[in-house]
Amino acid sequence: MTGMFGVYGAPPHELADVPAGATQLSPLVPGAQAIEDLAEGVLTGGAVVVAPPGTLERRYVLAHAVRAVAAGARLTVMAPKDKGGTRIARELEGFGGAVEEASRRHFRICTMRRPAQPAGLDAAISEGGPRLVEAIGLWSQPGVFSWDKIDAGSAMLAGELPRFAGVGADLGCGIGMLARRVLAASPDVVRLTLVDLDRRAVACARRNVDDARARFAWSDVRDLAFDAGGIDFVVMNPPFHDGGAEDQALGQSFIRRAAEILKPGGACWLVANRHLPYEAAMAPVFKSVRAVVQRDGYKIYEATR
Ligand SMILES: C[S@@+](CC[C@H](N)C(=O)[O-])C[C@H]1O[C@@H](n2cnc3c(N)ncnc32)[C@H](O)[C@@H]1O
Repeated sequence: MTGMFGVYGAPPHELADVPAGATQLSPLVPGAQAIEDLAEGVLTGGAVVVAPPGTLERRYVLAHAVRAVAAGARLTVMAPKDKGGTRIARELEGFGGAVEEASRRHFRICTMRRPAQPAGLDAAISEGGPRLVEAIGLWSQPGVFSWDKIDAGSAMLAGELPRFAGVGADLGCGIGMLARRVLAASPDVVRLTLVDLDRRAVACARRNVDDARARFAWSDVRDLAFDAGGIDFVVMNPPFHDGGAEDQALGQSFIRRAAEILKPGGACWLVANRHLPYEAAMAPVFKSVRAVVQRDGYKIYEATR
């Protein structure tokens, strides 16, 4: 590999060459380098980016990629056609690049040499950056889960939570909305660990949850080391996306992880889309499962270990 090479996300092998030793830049890969922290022009080997689907988030990432790639080095950006892929070429041209575009499988793949004087980067970076979202009174950033509104399922769970005590975990904490509610309503909680796969969400949660009892972890819930059996309560709104098979498996992993870390008698409070088959995942690993409320397409459960 000649010079530092950046990769954002997981480009399919057949669509791009990513040299061994490339620096991962995605906020969804725990431990990865933050693209925002790269010095201008440091990626002398170039970069490959799998562009995210949301417009503000994508333009933010592309602007940072253009900034970080060295003048003259190659930047390759790809995305599925129906997830923003058709917009990449125009967006890169807006930053001053001469773009070549190809279509392979269901992806659009754009390549360009980084221009010496790119245009419009600051605006895209400021439009996609973290900010206090007035409507929800919380720090957030385009790209994190439900970034500019409170998710209906989470709001419902927040309204049903009991007063907790002891040591807790918020699995998939997002920007920390549930954790704030838990800590505000439960003076007997001594520690609450907030875990999320998304670095940006954890960074926002740190700002939103200003409480000495909170701990923060940028991690996959499946990998984070808790004291097994040391937790009194868990709250979670597991990732679901479109409810496809993969997402259900992830939700089921969240459920198993909650059961592993809870003390006997500890409780897991969970909200899920009503149609997701989570009862079947909870039954074998919890002593009892109670549907607390079912409304507006959501179901809230209390599962006791
Ligand atoms: C449905 S959202 C809930 C967010 C927040 N708790 C709320 O109620 O607004 C699920 C969260 O799980 C996170 N997530 C997805 N996969 C994860 C994983 N494997 N480990 C940890 N967090 C994950 C997502 O980034 C997202 O913030």
